[in-house]
Amino acid sequence: MPSMKPDFMQLRNDFPMISKTMHDKPLVYFDSGATAQKPQVVIDKIADFYTNHYGTVHRAVYELAVYSTEEYQRVRQEVATFLHAAKPEEIIFTRGTTESINLVAYSFGKCFVHPGDEILITEMEHHSNIVPWQILCEDRGAILKVAPFNEKGELDLEAFAKLLSEKTKLVAVTHVSNALGTVNPIKEIVMLAHSAGAKVLVDGAQAAPHLAVDVQDLDADFYVFSGHKLYGPTGIGILYGKEELLNAMPPYQGGGDMIESVTFDKTEYSALPMKFEAGTPMIAEVFGIGAAVAYLNRIGMENIYHHEQDLLTYFTTNLQQVEDVRIIGTASDKGAIVSFLVDGIHPLDMGTMLDLRGFALRTGHHCAQPVMRHFNIPGTVRASFGIYNHRGEIDSFIINLREVIKLLK
Ligand SMILES: Cc1ncc(COP(=O)(O)O)c(C=O)c1O
Repeated sequence: MPSMKPDFMQLRNDFPMISKTMHDKPLVYFDSGATAQKPQVVIDKIADFYTNHYGTVHRAVYELAVYSTEEYQRVRQEVATFLHAAKPEEIIFTRGTTESINLVAYSFGKCFVHPGDEILITEMEHHSNIVPWQILCEDRGAILKVAPFNEKGELDLEAFAKLLSEKTKLVAVTHVSNALGTVNPIKEIVMLAHSAGAKVLVDGAQAAPHLAVDVQDLDADFYVFSGHKLYGPTGIGILYGKEELLNAMPPYQGGGDMIESVTFDKTEYSALPMKFEAGTPMIAEVFGIGAAVAYLNRIGMENIYHHEQDLLTYFTTNLQQVEDVRIIGTASDKGAIVSFLVDGIHPLDMGTMLDLRGFALRTGHHCAQPVMRHFNIPGTVRASFGIYNHRGEIDSFIINLREVIKLLK
Protein backbone atom coordinates (compact mmCIF):
# COMPACT_ATOMS: atom_id res chain seq x y z
CA MET A 1 0.00 0.00 0.00
CA PRO A 2 1.39 3.46 -0.87
CA SER A 3 1.88 5.49 2.30
CA MET A 4 1.49 9.03 0.88
CA LYS A 5 -0.98 10.79 -1.35
CA PRO A 6 0.76 10.92 -4.74
CA ASP A 7 1.50 14.17 -6.55
CA PHE A 8 -0.72 13.76 -9.60
CA MET A 9 0.80 16.82 -11.35
CA GLN A 10 4.25 15.28 -10.93
CA LEU A 11 3.25 11.90 -12.33
CA ARG A 12 2.22 13.51 -15.64
CA ASN A 13 5.97 13.46 -16.34
CA ASP A 14 5.82 9.66 -16.36
CA PHE A 15 3.79 9.78 -19.61
CA PRO A 16 5.76 10.87 -22.69
CA MET A 17 2.59 11.42 -24.74
CA ILE A 18 1.08 13.80 -22.22
CA SER A 19 3.60 16.57 -22.99
CA LYS A 20 2.95 16.38 -26.76
CA THR A 21 1.19 19.00 -28.83
CA MET A 22 -1.71 18.55 -31.24
CA HIS A 23 -2.26 21.15 -33.99
CA ASP A 24 0.42 23.23 -32.22
CA LYS A 25 -1.64 23.28 -29.03
CA PRO A 26 -0.82 21.40 -25.81
CA LEU A 27 -2.47 18.00 -26.00
CA VAL A 28 -5.33 17.60 -23.54
CA TYR A 29 -6.13 13.91 -23.53
CA PHE A 30 -9.70 13.24 -22.42
CA ASP A 31 -10.11 9.83 -24.07
CA SER A 32 -8.73 7.37 -21.53
CA GLY A 33 -12.03 5.49 -21.72
CA ALA A 34 -11.10 4.48 -25.26
CA THR A 35 -7.46 3.81 -24.47
CA ALA A 36 -5.04 5.16 -21.87
CA GLN A 37 -1.60 6.70 -22.48
CA LYS A 38 1.42 4.68 -21.34
CA PRO A 39 3.87 5.50 -18.56
CA GLN A 40 7.56 5.19 -19.42
CA VAL A 41 7.92 2.16 -17.09
CA VAL A 42 5.57 0.17 -19.36
CA ILE A 43 7.39 1.25 -22.54
CA ASP A 44 10.78 0.49 -20.92
CA LYS A 45 9.68 -2.95 -19.72
CA ILE A 46 8.68 -3.98 -23.24
CA ALA A 47 11.80 -2.48 -24.83
CA ASP A 48 14.02 -4.14 -22.18
CA PHE A 49 12.46 -7.53 -22.92
CA TYR A 50 13.03 -7.28 -26.68
CA THR A 51 16.48 -5.68 -26.24
CA ASN A 52 18.00 -7.70 -23.40
CA HIS A 53 15.99 -10.79 -22.47
CA TYR A 54 13.98 -11.95 -25.45
CA GLY A 55 13.04 -15.63 -25.41
CA THR A 56 9.88 -17.70 -25.35
CA VAL A 57 7.94 -19.08 -22.39
CA HIS A 58 7.27 -22.65 -21.21
CA ARG A 59 9.30 -24.47 -23.84
CA ALA A 60 12.99 -24.61 -23.00
CA VAL A 61 15.60 -24.88 -20.28
CA TYR A 62 17.99 -22.19 -21.50
CA GLU A 63 18.45 -19.01 -19.46
CA LEU A 64 16.35 -16.68 -21.65
CA ALA A 65 13.36 -19.01 -21.66
CA VAL A 66 13.64 -19.49 -17.89
CA TYR A 67 13.61 -15.69 -17.42
CA SER A 68 10.55 -15.28 -19.65
CA THR A 69 8.67 -18.14 -18.02
CA GLU A 70 9.33 -16.94 -14.49
CA GLU A 71 8.44 -13.35 -15.36
CA TYR A 72 5.27 -14.52 -17.13
CA GLN A 73 4.12 -16.45 -14.05
CA ARG A 74 5.10 -13.57 -11.75
CA VAL A 75 2.79 -11.22 -13.71
CA ARG A 76 -0.04 -13.73 -13.41
CA GLN A 77 0.42 -13.63 -9.61
CA GLU A 78 0.61 -9.82 -9.70
CA VAL A 79 -2.69 -9.57 -11.61
CA ALA A 80 -4.30 -12.10 -9.23
CA THR A 81 -3.25 -9.93 -6.29
CA PHE A 82 -4.50 -6.77 -8.08
CA LEU A 83 -7.96 -8.34 -8.44
CA HIS A 84 -7.85 -10.11 -5.05
CA ALA A 85 -8.32 -13.46 -6.82
CA ALA A 86 -7.81 -16.53 -4.66
CA LYS A 87 -5.23 -18.12 -6.96
CA PRO A 88 -3.05 -17.17 -9.97
CA GLU A 89 -4.55 -20.13 -11.87
CA GLU A 90 -7.80 -18.16 -11.99
CA ILE A 91 -6.15 -15.53 -14.22
CA ILE A 92 -6.18 -16.23 -17.97
CA PHE A 93 -4.28 -13.98 -20.39
CA THR A 94 -6.31 -13.05 -23.45
CA ARG A 95 -6.02 -10.33 -26.12
CA GLY A 96 -8.52 -8.00 -24.44
CA THR A 97 -11.95 -7.59 -22.91
CA THR A 98 -13.57 -8.59 -26.19
CA GLU A 99 -11.66 -11.86 -26.40
CA SER A 100 -12.27 -12.62 -22.72
CA ILE A 101 -16.03 -12.27 -23.20
CA ASN A 102 -15.97 -14.34 -26.40
CA LEU A 103 -14.00 -17.04 -24.58
CA VAL A 104 -16.63 -17.29 -21.84
CA ALA A 105 -19.53 -17.11 -24.31
CA TYR A 106 -18.04 -19.96 -26.34
CA SER A 107 -16.73 -22.18 -23.57
CA PHE A 108 -19.28 -21.61 -20.77
CA GLY A 109 -22.00 -21.59 -23.43
CA LYS A 110 -20.91 -24.92 -24.90
CA CYS A 111 -20.99 -26.54 -21.49
CA PHE A 112 -23.85 -24.89 -19.62
CA VAL A 113 -26.28 -23.24 -22.09
CA HIS A 114 -29.02 -25.34 -23.68
CA PRO A 115 -32.06 -24.63 -25.88
CA GLY A 116 -34.60 -22.48 -24.04
CA ASP A 117 -32.03 -21.19 -21.49
CA GLU A 118 -31.61 -17.45 -21.03
CA ILE A 119 -28.70 -15.01 -20.94
CA LEU A 120 -29.45 -11.71 -19.22
CA ILE A 121 -27.57 -8.54 -20.15
CA THR A 122 -28.40 -4.85 -19.68
CA GLU A 123 -29.39 -2.07 -22.04
CA MET A 124 -26.17 -0.18 -21.29
CA GLU A 125 -23.68 -2.80 -22.50
CA HIS A 126 -20.81 -2.14 -24.91
CA HIS A 127 -21.24 -4.09 -28.18
CA SER A 128 -18.50 -6.45 -26.90
CA ASN A 129 -20.87 -7.54 -24.15
CA ILE A 130 -23.87 -7.91 -26.50
CA VAL A 131 -22.74 -9.53 -29.73
CA PRO A 132 -20.93 -12.60 -28.27
CA TRP A 133 -24.13 -13.44 -26.34
CA GLN A 134 -26.25 -13.02 -29.47
CA ILE A 135 -23.95 -15.42 -31.31
CA LEU A 136 -24.14 -17.89 -28.41
CA CYS A 137 -27.94 -17.67 -28.22
CA GLU A 138 -28.22 -18.27 -31.95
CA ASP A 139 -25.89 -21.29 -31.72
CA ARG A 140 -27.52 -22.87 -28.68
CA GLY A 141 -31.17 -21.96 -29.20
CA ALA A 142 -31.06 -19.78 -26.09
CA ILE A 143 -32.83 -16.46 -25.48
CA LEU A 144 -31.20 -13.09 -24.84
CA LYS A 145 -32.98 -10.90 -22.26
CA VAL A 146 -32.18 -7.25 -21.68
CA ALA A 147 -32.66 -5.33 -18.41
CA PRO A 148 -33.50 -1.64 -18.94
CA PHE A 149 -32.06 1.50 -17.36
CA ASN A 150 -33.91 4.64 -16.28
CA GLU A 151 -33.58 8.20 -17.62
CA LYS A 152 -30.58 8.88 -15.37
CA GLY A 153 -28.83 5.87 -16.87
CA GLU A 154 -29.18 3.74 -13.74
CA LEU A 155 -29.99 0.07 -14.07
CA ASP A 156 -33.62 -0.69 -13.16
CA LEU A 157 -32.88 -3.30 -10.49
CA GLU A 158 -36.53 -4.21 -10.02
CA ALA A 159 -36.93 -4.98 -13.72
CA PHE A 160 -33.58 -6.80 -13.63
CA ALA A 161 -34.74 -9.00 -10.74
CA LYS A 162 -38.00 -9.78 -12.53
CA LEU A 163 -36.11 -10.94 -15.62
CA LEU A 164 -34.16 -13.50 -13.61
CA SER A 165 -35.52 -17.04 -13.47
CA GLU A 166 -34.33 -20.63 -13.22
CA LYS A 167 -33.82 -20.42 -16.99
CA THR A 168 -31.15 -17.69 -16.59
CA LYS A 169 -27.78 -19.35 -16.98
CA LEU A 170 -25.62 -16.25 -17.05
CA VAL A 171 -25.85 -12.54 -16.35
CA ALA A 172 -23.35 -10.36 -18.26
CA VAL A 173 -23.17 -6.82 -16.96
CA THR A 174 -20.78 -3.91 -17.15
CA HIS A 175 -19.21 -2.63 -13.94
CA VAL A 176 -18.98 0.93 -15.32
CA SER A 177 -20.80 2.03 -18.49
CA ASN A 178 -18.45 3.44 -21.12
CA ALA A 179 -21.22 5.58 -22.63
CA LEU A 180 -22.98 6.87 -19.48
CA GLY A 181 -20.40 6.56 -16.73
CA THR A 182 -22.88 4.66 -14.52
CA VAL A 183 -21.32 2.44 -11.85
CA ASN A 184 -23.54 -0.60 -11.44
CA PRO A 185 -24.20 -2.14 -8.00
CA ILE A 186 -22.33 -5.34 -8.83
CA LYS A 187 -22.57 -6.95 -5.38
CA GLU A 188 -26.34 -6.61 -5.39
CA ILE A 189 -26.58 -7.83 -8.99
CA VAL A 190 -24.41 -10.86 -8.18
CA MET A 191 -26.50 -11.69 -5.11
CA LEU A 192 -29.75 -11.50 -7.10
CA ALA A 193 -28.31 -13.57 -9.95
CA HIS A 194 -26.84 -16.21 -7.64
CA SER A 195 -30.11 -16.60 -5.77
CA ALA A 196 -31.71 -17.40 -9.14
CA GLY A 197 -28.93 -19.91 -9.84
CA ALA A 198 -27.24 -17.83 -12.57
CA LYS A 199 -23.51 -17.13 -12.94
CA VAL A 200 -22.27 -13.58 -13.48
CA LEU A 201 -19.69 -12.12 -15.86
CA VAL A 202 -18.64 -8.57 -15.04
CA ASP A 203 -17.21 -6.39 -17.83
CA GLY A 204 -14.61 -4.41 -15.92
CA ALA A 205 -13.09 -2.60 -18.93
CA GLN A 206 -14.04 0.83 -17.53
CA ALA A 207 -13.67 -0.12 -13.87
CA ALA A 208 -10.36 -1.94 -13.33
CA PRO A 209 -8.21 1.11 -14.30
CA HIS A 210 -10.17 3.45 -12.03
CA LEU A 211 -11.24 1.75 -8.80
CA ALA A 212 -10.09 -1.04 -6.50
CA VAL A 213 -11.60 -4.35 -7.61
CA ASP A 214 -11.99 -7.32 -5.27
CA VAL A 215 -13.45 -10.22 -7.24
CA GLN A 216 -13.96 -12.33 -4.11
CA ASP A 217 -15.81 -9.55 -2.32
CA LEU A 218 -17.97 -8.97 -5.42
CA ASP A 219 -18.38 -12.75 -5.69
CA ALA A 220 -18.20 -12.37 -9.50
CA ASP A 221 -17.86 -15.65 -11.39
CA PHE A 222 -15.97 -13.96 -14.24
CA TYR A 223 -14.33 -10.53 -14.36
CA VAL A 224 -12.73 -9.19 -17.55
CA PHE A 225 -10.73 -6.14 -18.63
CA SER A 226 -8.23 -4.83 -21.21
CA GLY A 227 -4.58 -3.94 -20.66
CA HIS A 228 -4.60 -0.92 -22.98
CA LYS A 229 -7.19 0.93 -20.88
CA LEU A 230 -5.14 0.20 -17.75
CA TYR A 231 -2.04 2.10 -18.97
CA GLY A 232 -0.63 -1.16 -20.39
CA PRO A 233 -0.08 -2.26 -24.00
CA THR A 234 -2.66 -3.22 -26.60
CA GLY A 235 -3.22 -6.90 -27.39
CA ILE A 236 -3.47 -8.08 -23.78
CA GLY A 237 -6.53 -8.68 -21.65
CA ILE A 238 -7.49 -10.48 -18.48
CA LEU A 239 -10.10 -13.09 -17.79
CA TYR A 240 -10.62 -13.89 -14.14
CA GLY A 241 -12.79 -16.95 -13.55
CA LYS A 242 -13.58 -18.99 -10.46
CA GLU A 243 -11.43 -22.11 -10.48
CA GLU A 244 -14.25 -24.66 -10.35
CA LEU A 245 -16.01 -23.00 -13.28
CA LEU A 246 -12.89 -22.72 -15.44
CA ASN A 247 -12.11 -26.34 -14.63
CA ALA A 248 -15.55 -27.41 -15.81
CA MET A 249 -15.33 -25.44 -19.08
CA PRO A 250 -13.84 -26.83 -22.31
CA PRO A 251 -10.87 -25.11 -24.03
CA TYR A 252 -11.60 -22.12 -26.27
CA GLN A 253 -8.83 -22.86 -28.76
CA GLY A 254 -6.64 -25.90 -29.42
CA GLY A 255 -2.90 -25.82 -30.07
CA GLY A 256 0.48 -25.85 -28.42
CA ASP A 257 0.91 -25.11 -24.72
CA MET A 258 -2.65 -26.10 -23.77
CA ILE A 259 -2.05 -29.87 -23.84
CA GLU A 260 -0.74 -32.52 -21.49
CA SER A 261 -0.40 -35.18 -24.22
CA VAL A 262 -1.50 -35.58 -27.83
CA THR A 263 -2.17 -38.73 -29.82
CA PHE A 264 -4.29 -39.02 -32.95
CA ASP A 265 -6.95 -40.71 -30.84
CA LYS A 266 -7.13 -38.35 -27.92
CA THR A 267 -5.67 -35.19 -26.41
CA GLU A 268 -5.34 -34.59 -22.67
CA TYR A 269 -5.60 -30.90 -21.87
CA SER A 270 -3.32 -28.97 -19.52
CA ALA A 271 -4.56 -27.90 -16.12
CA LEU A 272 -5.49 -24.25 -15.51
CA PRO A 273 -4.48 -21.70 -16.61
CA MET A 274 -2.73 -23.19 -19.64
CA LYS A 275 -5.88 -24.97 -20.84
CA PHE A 276 -7.12 -21.57 -22.03
CA GLU A 277 -3.84 -20.22 -23.42
CA ALA A 278 -3.22 -22.06 -26.70
CA GLY A 279 -0.17 -21.09 -28.74
CA THR A 280 2.79 -18.83 -28.03
CA PRO A 281 1.28 -16.07 -25.93
CA MET A 282 1.65 -12.27 -25.99
CA ILE A 283 4.79 -12.38 -23.83
CA ALA A 284 5.88 -8.74 -24.17
CA GLU A 285 2.31 -7.57 -23.64
CA VAL A 286 2.02 -9.66 -20.48
CA PHE A 287 5.23 -8.04 -19.18
CA GLY A 288 3.77 -4.66 -20.14
CA ILE A 289 0.55 -5.19 -18.20
CA GLY A 290 2.64 -6.40 -15.27
CA ALA A 291 4.58 -3.11 -15.31
CA ALA A 292 1.29 -1.17 -15.54
CA VAL A 293 -0.24 -3.01 -12.57
CA ALA A 294 2.91 -2.44 -10.49
CA TYR A 295 2.81 1.27 -11.44
CA LEU A 296 -0.85 1.60 -10.40
CA ASN A 297 -0.17 -0.25 -7.14
CA ARG A 298 2.55 2.28 -6.30
CA ILE A 299 0.06 5.13 -6.78
CA GLY A 300 -2.76 3.25 -5.05
CA MET A 301 -6.19 2.55 -6.54
CA GLU A 302 -7.92 4.41 -3.70
CA ASN A 303 -5.87 7.53 -4.49
CA ILE A 304 -6.67 7.15 -8.19
CA TYR A 305 -10.38 6.80 -7.47
CA HIS A 306 -10.44 9.98 -5.36
CA HIS A 307 -8.40 11.96 -7.89
CA GLU A 308 -10.72 10.99 -10.75
CA GLN A 309 -13.89 11.55 -8.71
CA ASP A 310 -12.65 15.09 -8.07
CA LEU A 311 -12.20 15.57 -11.84
CA LEU A 312 -15.67 14.14 -12.49
CA THR A 313 -17.33 16.53 -10.03
CA TYR A 314 -15.31 19.55 -11.21
CA PHE A 315 -15.99 18.82 -14.88
CA THR A 316 -19.71 18.14 -14.34
CA THR A 317 -20.24 21.28 -12.25
CA ASN A 318 -18.52 23.47 -14.84
CA LEU A 319 -20.18 21.81 -17.81
CA GLN A 320 -23.64 22.29 -16.30
CA GLN A 321 -23.03 26.04 -16.42
CA VAL A 322 -22.51 26.04 -20.19
CA GLU A 323 -25.70 26.98 -22.00
CA ASP A 324 -27.54 24.38 -24.09
CA VAL A 325 -25.46 21.48 -22.73
CA ARG A 326 -27.27 18.26 -21.93
CA ILE A 327 -25.43 15.58 -19.95
CA ILE A 328 -26.35 12.04 -20.97
CA GLY A 329 -25.98 9.80 -17.92
CA THR A 330 -26.64 11.39 -14.55
CA ALA A 331 -26.49 8.36 -12.27
CA SER A 332 -25.73 9.06 -8.61
CA ASP A 333 -22.69 6.77 -8.77
CA LYS A 334 -20.45 7.46 -11.79
CA GLY A 335 -16.95 6.73 -12.97
CA ALA A 336 -14.88 9.54 -14.50
CA ILE A 337 -16.80 9.58 -17.78
CA VAL A 338 -19.08 12.39 -18.95
CA SER A 339 -21.16 12.11 -22.12
CA PHE A 340 -22.89 15.24 -23.33
CA LEU A 341 -24.59 17.00 -26.22
CA VAL A 342 -25.01 20.63 -27.14
CA ASP A 343 -28.41 21.56 -28.57
CA GLY A 344 -28.25 22.04 -32.31
CA ILE A 345 -24.62 20.89 -32.73
CA HIS A 346 -23.68 17.45 -34.05
CA PRO A 347 -21.18 15.67 -31.77
CA LEU A 348 -18.88 15.05 -34.74
CA ASP A 349 -18.61 18.79 -35.54
CA MET A 350 -17.91 19.47 -31.90
CA GLY A 351 -15.19 16.79 -31.74
CA THR A 352 -13.52 18.10 -34.92
CA MET A 353 -13.43 21.69 -33.67
CA LEU A 354 -12.14 20.65 -30.25
CA ASP A 355 -9.42 18.54 -31.87
CA LEU A 356 -8.12 21.64 -33.68
CA ARG A 357 -7.69 23.22 -30.25
CA GLY A 358 -5.73 20.25 -28.85
CA PHE A 359 -8.54 18.40 -27.08
CA ALA A 360 -8.80 14.65 -27.74
CA LEU A 361 -12.36 13.51 -27.00
CA ARG A 362 -14.38 10.64 -28.37
CA THR A 363 -17.51 11.38 -30.37
CA GLY A 364 -20.15 9.00 -31.70
CA HIS A 365 -22.05 6.04 -30.31
CA HIS A 366 -19.12 4.64 -28.24
CA CYS A 367 -19.92 1.06 -29.36
CA ALA A 368 -23.15 1.33 -27.37
CA GLN A 369 -25.81 1.92 -30.03
CA PRO A 370 -28.69 0.70 -27.80
CA VAL A 371 -27.81 3.46 -25.31
CA MET A 372 -28.03 6.07 -28.07
CA ARG A 373 -31.32 4.57 -29.23
CA HIS A 374 -32.72 4.78 -25.69
CA PHE A 375 -32.13 8.54 -25.68
CA ASN A 376 -32.99 8.89 -29.38
CA ILE A 377 -29.69 10.64 -30.14
CA PRO A 378 -27.07 10.01 -32.86
CA GLY A 379 -24.21 9.96 -30.39
CA THR A 380 -22.50 12.07 -27.76
CA VAL A 381 -19.26 13.89 -27.07
CA ARG A 382 -17.49 11.97 -24.32
CA ALA A 383 -14.81 13.15 -21.93
CA SER A 384 -13.17 10.33 -19.99
CA PHE A 385 -10.38 10.97 -17.51
CA GLY A 386 -7.21 9.27 -16.41
CA ILE A 387 -4.61 9.73 -13.70
CA TYR A 388 -2.71 12.39 -15.72
CA ASN A 389 -5.67 14.80 -16.07
CA HIS A 390 -6.04 17.85 -13.84
CA ARG A 391 -8.44 20.69 -13.09
CA GLY A 392 -6.45 23.21 -15.17
CA GLU A 393 -7.19 21.17 -18.31
CA ILE A 394 -10.88 21.26 -17.44
CA ASP A 395 -10.80 25.06 -17.02
CA SER A 396 -9.19 25.39 -20.43
CA PHE A 397 -11.65 22.92 -21.94
CA ILE A 398 -14.69 24.87 -20.71
CA ILE A 399 -13.33 28.13 -22.18
CA ASN A 400 -12.72 26.42 -25.54
CA LEU A 401 -16.07 24.66 -25.47
CA ARG A 402 -17.87 27.99 -25.05
CA GLU A 403 -15.91 29.45 -27.97
CA VAL A 404 -16.59 26.46 -30.20
CA ILE A 405 -20.31 26.59 -29.41
CA LYS A 406 -20.35 30.26 -30.40
CA LEU A 407 -18.62 29.47 -33.69
CA LEU A 408 -20.90 26.55 -34.54
CA LYS A 409 -24.24 28.10 -33.56
C1 LIG B 1 -17.34 -1.31 -21.22
C2 LIG B 1 -16.46 -1.86 -22.31
N1 LIG B 1 -16.50 -3.16 -22.60
C3 LIG B 1 -15.73 -3.70 -23.55
C4 LIG B 1 -14.86 -2.94 -24.28
C5 LIG B 1 -14.02 -3.59 -25.33
O1 LIG B 1 -12.67 -3.53 -24.99
P1 LIG B 1 -11.55 -4.00 -26.03
O2 LIG B 1 -11.86 -3.29 -27.31
O3 LIG B 1 -10.28 -3.54 -25.39
O4 LIG B 1 -11.66 -5.47 -26.15
C6 LIG B 1 -14.79 -1.58 -24.04
C7 LIG B 1 -13.91 -0.70 -24.86
O5 LIG B 1 -14.20 0.44 -25.10
C8 LIG B 1 -15.60 -1.02 -23.02
O6 LIG B 1 -15.57 0.28 -22.74
